[in-house]
Amino acid sequence: MIFTLNRDKSRRLIEGLTEAAIIVRGATVAMSNAAARNLLGVAIEGVDVRQVLPHPAVIERLVRGGVAGPEEVEAAGFGGSRRQWLVRIAPLGDGALMVRLIDRSEARAAEQMRVDFVANASHELRTPLSTLIGYAETLRERSGEIDGDTRDRFLSIVHEEAQRMQRVVEDLISLSRIEAEKFTTPTDAVDLEQLIDISVESARRMGEERGSQLVREIEADLPPIAADSVQILQVIDNLITNALRYGEPGTPVTISATLEDAMVHMTVADRGEGIASEHLHRLTERFYRVDTSRSRSLGGTGLGLSIVKHIVERHRGRFTIESQVGKGTTVHVLLPVAAGSLS
Ligand SMILES: Nc1ncnc2c1ncn2[C@@H]1O[C@H](COP(=O)(O)OP(=O)(O)OP(=O)(O)O)[C@@H](O)[C@H]1O
Ligand SMILES: [Mg+2]
Repeated sequence: MIFTLNRDKSRRLIEGLTEAAIIVRGATVAMSNAAARNLLGVAIEGVDVRQVLPHPAVIERLVRGGVAGPEEVEAAGFGGSRRQWLVRIAPLGDGALMVRLIDRSEARAAEQMRVDFVANASHELRTPLSTLIGYAETLRERSGEIDGDTRDRFLSIVHEEAQRMQRVVEDLISLSRIEAEKFTTPTDAVDLEQLIDISVESARRMGEERGSQLVREIEADLPPIAADSVQILQVIDNLITNALRYGEPGTPVTISATLEDAMVHMTVADRGEGIASEHLHRLTERFYRVDTSRSRSLGGTGLGLSIVKHIVERHRGRFTIESQVGKGTTVHVLLPVAAGSLS
């Protein structure tokens, strides 16, 4: 059935759409909604559509005419440099075309992240696995030629590499558990100071080995936080380990906690080489490290801060890293106080 919409009706129709929409007639933008003007420019009505949506596949359909039924085109290059669009074109029956722009940027970015993640995870496991297979083969095939000391050395390499794989797999499992629980906000009232104490205690040996003192600066009478204590302990452990690992040996690591409005503000600060600003925003990406071989040799998987970020998000908290090259790094974590704990 062919019917013609009058101008008012058409305008009401496209204004009612949340996504950007335009009506094209004779290769010109005949009408646009507020979302389209926001995105493509306030004065697009009356303008040649080739200027408004400069994408070859879109233009081809809009200008050639004869679009018989709804068509979809994936496109980019307008409405922001990194945006990806699904352009839906549908004939209105009187030679006019309705064009809707569905934002696909986030879905695309998420898809890309999944692809990268699988590639990175496979790579992280493949490297130790190759070493492991190589040594195991040598031990089996040349057992007669290998003396006892060499054999022991090979076996300890096999053991180390297997442990590395185990750490990667455990961190991945941990990450996927946290993500699965993302929408259930923890409500237990938890004493943060107690968790800091536990974490400091378990890091003591590493601190002694590096000659670093662990300094606690905890405000008196902190209210409890609304938390999953196992996960918050994981956060503190991760941050203290990083501070010890990447801070300058012999310098102190300071853990502080204070009350700020309805949040408890915890910081873990080290003195060391710090992190250059171009790396800062990428540190919470899975497997991202500033210096991969150094992190690996220290036993790191590159998943620690990604786990921290997900845990803090699940707690509806905030997480920021502040760093000065040559001076050191301070990580801030803000966590909500447990319900009913503030007078
Ligand atoms: N306090 C810090 N000072 C300097 N660099 C840091 C600090 N914390 C983290 N980094 C850098 O950020 C990277 C990512 O940290 P993250 O905790 O995610 O991984 P990791 O420590 O390498 O491994 P994992 O924590 O999984 O054992 C580290 O490899 C390191 O390059
Ligand atoms: Mg770490």
